Amino acid sequence: MLEEVVSALNLKSGDVVLDATVGSGGHAGEILKKILPDGKLIGLDADPSILKIAEENLKNFIDAFKLINENFKNLDIILSKENIKNINAILFDLGISSYQIEDKYRGFSIKENARLDMRMDPRLKITAYDIVNNYTEKELSDIIMQFGEDRLHNRISRYIVEERSKKTIETTYDLAAIIHKAVGFRYKRTRIDPATRTFQAIRIAVNNELDALEEGLKKAVAWLDVGGRIVIISFHSLEDRIVKNLFKGYAGLGILKIITKKPIRPSGEEVRLNPRSRSSRLRVAERI
Ligand SMILES: C[S@@+](CC[C@H](N)C(=O)[O-])C[C@H]1O[C@@H](n2cnc3c(N)ncnc32)[C@H](O)[C@@H]1O
Repeated sequence: MLEEVVSALNLKSGDVVLDATVGSGGHAGEILKKILPDGKLIGLDADPSILKIAEENLKNFIDAFKLINENFKNLDIILSKENIKNINAILFDLGISSYQIEDKYRGFSIKENARLDMRMDPRLKITAYDIVNNYTEKELSDIIMQFGEDRLHNRISRYIVEERSKKTIETTYDLAAIIHKAVGFRYKRTRIDPATRTFQAIRIAVNNELDALEEGLKKAVAWLDVGGRIVIISFHSLEDRIVKNLFKGYAGLGILKIITKKPIRPSGEEVRLNPRSRSSRLRVAERI
């Protein structure tokens, strides 16, 4: 949805833009083309390793951007430090990037056998390993229910606790095998791996993703200039629900005008080329 995103941001030359999830800089590059020569882009990412890729991908834009390794929940601190008073457009492209999923050492993917980590930011103290091996059965069940919306949350957490009493759960493959055993025949006919929801849930818990989203969005709206656009791409219904409700609340207060009454979904062609995009939803609002 690159074109839709750039068009929704409604950019003009000279704008100051915050890309709250700059990733490898795909969106940032297109944004920079619209705001040059006097515009400026601040790009945040919780993951320092991906910023190195963005730095390389954006190098032709020289002084027009600044990349900062920070969680977007702290965007107010960063913008104050950078002495930026107002922002003309803000983008949040949520979730993790394909670089992170494909990284063999991060433990985000069921398909790669890696130590259970799942931290976007290596400064975080708690990893997926700690959650899976130390949280109580009730805590695990709550995480899988709330952040994975898996109706088998009790069963999966029971199996995890049972298995870890025999041997610590070290890797993504160990965890996936336990979930497959817990789920048994129930999911045999689905295309999506039955461990997907639990993996998503643990990742959300490790990175405290939903609280960060709520905090980051509120701060973003406060920094957005009147007439400025905020564009958000979410990857699952939990994120989308937060965005939808916050937008609604701000619209009720006369702070935002909602531009997308219904979220924009990727085209069939985009989903065919990039199957991961199938659950993405784009929402846009304007500061009034
Ligand atoms: C889907 S990717 C963004 C891709 C990017 N738009 C591009 O064009 O390359 C999401 C990025 O957001 C980052 N991220 C997720 N949650 C974050 C947070 N709370 N604060 C800062 N970065 C975050 C991830 O590390 C990841 O690099």
